[in-house]
Amino acid sequence: MIKRKVKLLVIEDEEFDVRRIRSTLEPFCDQIQIIDITSNGSKAVELIEANPEKYDVIIMDFQIAGKLKGENLIRKIKSIESTLQVIVVTKLTIHNTDFEFANQLLEAGAFWYCTKYPGDIENAIYQPTDFVLSIFNACEKRHLERQKHKSDKKLQQSIQSILSGKKIIGASGFIKNLKLQIKQLAQSDTTVLIQGDSGTGKELVAAHIHYNSQRKYEKFVPVNCGLL
Ligand SMILES: Nc1ncnc2c1ncn2[C@@H]1O[C@H](COP(=O)(O)OP(=O)(O)OP(=O)(O)O)[C@@H](O)[C@H]1O
Ligand SMILES: [Mg+2]
Repeated sequence: MIKRKVKLLVIEDEEFDVRRIRSTLEPFCDQIQIIDITSNGSKAVELIEANPEKYDVIIMDFQIAGKLKGENLIRKIKSIESTLQVIVVTKLTIHNTDFEFANQLLEAGAFWYCTKYPGDIENAIYQPTDFVLSIFNACEKRHLERQKHKSDKKLQQSIQSILSGKKIIGASGFIKNLKLQIKQLAQSDTTVLIQGDSGTGKELVAAHIHYNSQRKYEKFVPVNCGLL
């Protein structure tokens, strides 16, 4: 189990459900902390924009008052900070339990979704173990994604520094066209044959294709076939 405390933002406009969320999480108060509660999607966006670091996981009611809600709210949150994880809580109705419906939420960027317990269950919003585990898992994903972003950024920086030492010099139409071809070929997965006299920059072009391609984080290995 993770050691850091999970920081939550709750978006819920029904007092009753806020109480149910609080009491479901109460036994885990040393591991999960509700930082803020808001009843409104736009207010939630303001809070997140002001400081995305303040939260790890957003617990979001699907049906809330105001214009910004549902999939649009999920997309908005993910566009502000893609590593924030959203768990959607929805009313228990036939329609809302549809696989299609849940899938749409996940496609919009939600981490997970749960259907609320009926109103006569006053102390829990959702099966407590499932709810708490999904929060821990969401938090774990948040931290893994953040780490990945950090290391991707570092790798990208070292690639930039490799490429800055391998600039293709030239401003002719031929060189311009060559640079365009490099860009296009780097996006594809095809084999490329580069022809030219000795010392005209074949390996330079190969390096540019490699470091702009999906394999850019892998090693670039030039082999002198003539020598072999
Ligand atoms: N347009 C260019 N801009 C900048 N540097 C260039 C350019 N063309 C060639 N060079 C430089 O010339 C040198 C030889 O280039 P490179 O090793 O890529 O050639 P090659 O075609 O692979 O040669 P060989 O046939 O001998 O293997 C390198 O230092 C390369 O950076
Ligand atoms: Mg060469």
